[in-house]
Amino acid sequence: MANDSASGSAQKVGKKIGPVILLGPPGAGKGTQSKQIVEHYGIPQISTGDLLRDHVARGTELGLEARAIMARGDLVPDELMYGIVAHRLRETDCQRGFVLDGFPRTAAQAGWLDAFLEKEVFDNSEKSKPCAPLIVIQLLVDYNHLLLRLTGRRSCPTCGRLYNIHLQPPLVDELCDVDGSKLVIREDDRPEVISERLAAYEKQTRPVADYYRRQRRLVALNADRPVEEVTAQIFSVIERYHQEKHHEHGLLGSVTPKVESAKSKPLRPKI
Ligand code: AP5
Repeated sequence: MANDSASGSAQKVGKKIGPVILLGPPGAGKGTQSKQIVEHYGIPQISTGDLLRDHVARGTELGLEARAIMARGDLVPDELMYGIVAHRLRETDCQRGFVLDGFPRTAAQAGWLDAFLEKEVFDNSEKSKPCAPLIVIQLLVDYNHLLLRLTGRRSCPTCGRLYNIHLQPPLVDELCDVDGSKLVIREDDRPEVISERLAAYEKQTRPVADYYRRQRRLVALNADRPVEEVTAQIFSVIERYHQEKHHEHGLLGSVTPKVESAKSKPLRPKI
């Protein structure tokens, strides 16, 4: 695993990590990289896509409302998101930190999250609450690679492991390497929905990166690389935040990490 020496330090002493926000278009690798952070630092992944899919599968009121919206590739309204995110972040496993995958996705969600973290997470008066700095990492990937990643994605319905038939195929066709389950395709990974999701990202989620850039909290990484290389970059950002700035910049303070940063360009197909 990448950056092994850092692993021991964070997990064994129960250091508080993040919160870490992974921003990026559909297929950028937010889920893949969140799982690396979970394994390495022992903090939970909060994927709003997974939370919503769970509601859809259970047929809750929220799930019934979200189902058609997700099937079209649109974003679920902000007001519906706040309740499920707040509920999840208040669970005890988030006290040492967490990685947010897919939230915030609109400028309004980013503002809501800042207020929530300030009030409920960074309140230093209660020692049990995490007080590590907020780390915002944007994963940048070329449009055509995103298409390859999304059209080729398969996942294991039992253990959640992700594969890609073009880029990271399982050892045996269509079967999970870990438990042998038959791999499944996500409902919204159909080509016509993929283009809607990418359009929603451009219109509604790109402003979130601008929001954090203005606050000097955004670290943009070139994620058009093998998984382990992207992971190593992410770990390096996290380690640097904690080594250098934890006590210097206040709770929501900004940091400019010394890792390679990449330029964000609008998503366009390369012909
Ligand atoms: P969500 O589940 O969050 O989907 P998404 O943002 O579209 O992102 P994906 O899960 O498709 O991609 P990813 O970046 O996680 O990539 P992955 O690691 O899987 O949201 C689904 C829907 O829910 C939304 O459309 C919306 O309707 C709703 N929703 C969710 N959150 C919301 C919110 N906050 N507000 C409103 N609505 C919300 O990787 C993709 C593939 O690439 C995999 O096959 C993987 O193996 C491969 N891969 C990953 N990294 C690499 C690499 N470095 N090299 C090669 N292949 C790679």
